[in-house]
Amino acid sequence: MAEVNGLDAFKARGTQEEAIDMSKKMRVGIIGTGWIAECHVEEYMKMPDVEIVAAADLIPGKAEAFMEKFGLEGVHFYPNDQAMIDAEELDAVSICTYNRQHAPCAIYALKHGVNVMLEKPMCVTLEEAIEICKAEKESGKVLSIGFQPRLDPNMQMIKKIIESGELGQIYYIQTGGGRRKGIPTPFGTTFIEDKTAGLGALGDIGCYSLDMVLNAIGYPKPITVTGYRSDFFGKNPAYFTSQGKPAEYADLFSVDDFAAAFVRLDGGIILDFRIAWAMHLDTPGDTIFMGTKGSLRVPSTECWNGSIGGPMKIYHEVAGESVETEIPMLTPPAEGLFYHKLRSFINAAKSGGKAPVPSSQIIYNQAILDGILKSNAIGREVEIEIPEM
Ligand SMILES: NC(=O)c1ccc[n+]([C@@H]2O[C@H](COP(=O)([O-])OP(=O)(O)OC[C@H]3O[C@@H](n4cnc5c(N)ncnc54)[C@H](O)[C@@H]3O)[C@@H](O)[C@H]2O)c1
Repeated sequence: MAEVNGLDAFKARGTQEEAIDMSKKMRVGIIGTGWIAECHVEEYMKMPDVEIVAAADLIPGKAEAFMEKFGLEGVHFYPNDQAMIDAEELDAVSICTYNRQHAPCAIYALKHGVNVMLEKPMCVTLEEAIEICKAEKESGKVLSIGFQPRLDPNMQMIKKIIESGELGQIYYIQTGGGRRKGIPTPFGTTFIEDKTAGLGALGDIGCYSLDMVLNAIGYPKPITVTGYRSDFFGKNPAYFTSQGKPAEYADLFSVDDFAAAFVRLDGGIILDFRIAWAMHLDTPGDTIFMGTKGSLRVPSTECWNGSIGGPMKIYHEVAGESVETEIPMLTPPAEGLFYHKLRSFINAAKSGGKAPVPSSQIIYNQAILDGILKSNAIGREVEIEIPEM
């Protein structure tokens, strides 16, 4: 970034000029050519050092039709991830499959020496996350998980505020988010069936809330989880018919549409979490960080997808008076968060650098999602155990 004087420093935020190393072109394959793969392809196409050479999808003809929309030539097509990885000399893959296929695809790619950009959530179970981390460690390759909201300068501001010590010691966090009617079925039922998604609101949007707060406080290990999940909206045929969808979706619905948890984190911090795909409420609450010197309120949005709903406020004391300080909203980088998510992954893969969103952090996010399922199944608190790797 060009040097800027103090007066221009604020303006310079949000521009991220980068020198691209053109000495090597990265040969990238796309695994799963559904909804989110479009964003991956659109952003890779902006990168002069990336060539999309292959794509795989389980549904015959889907990858071919998908690539035709983008006018990309010379792309080789495969019926699944393994056939593609076996046949191609790939530098990297984007795993854009539904959640249940995240772990098998990531493990296969890493075991075959391919760098991996893995969409969020990392996977479905903690056991899968552990296997992914082992494969990553053995491979020495870069694995980054697709949490683009943390590249939002407003999200980064939360972390800066906490790291500045302005709030003192954080002892309690409330987070989560929701949608009034937001069970996602835009292109079918892969988000709502256990056999493909494994996790409902938890894996779709809950992992974003957890990443927002855990990343801000340095990703402490979760110690125990008391979790709850329900499916009152998803199992109701009237919900789907009111949305113009088939009533039969209610029969197929086999994940959570609401979940809540009480989590004890290393360092004695309490995390109170709730997430909803559907509810009779506008929002299940703002995100708050309570600290010994001050607290921070992060306004929720009506449709939670990992963005901040408005200016944040710090509640603290100045000269003995209770004061509220509003934090101005910052402008995200012009190229978009998704571009930077993929650009930072490609840079790390090329240089053998650190993953922008490392599995060593996201395994704790996954451990909480998994802990909620396990606690809900037995109706009491569970301890989180993660072996040394
Ligand atoms: N980061 C974001 O903003 C964001 C947004 C939406 C979705 N996502 C994530 O992206 C993932 C995919 O979501 P989607 O809406 O695109 O799903 P989708 O169901 O539309 O597409 C997934 C595709 O993967 C294919 N597939 C599954 N296993 C495969 C395999 N082994 N080999 C090849 N193809 C395989 C399926 O046939 C399907 O076409 C989900 O995990 C979701 O959480 C992330």
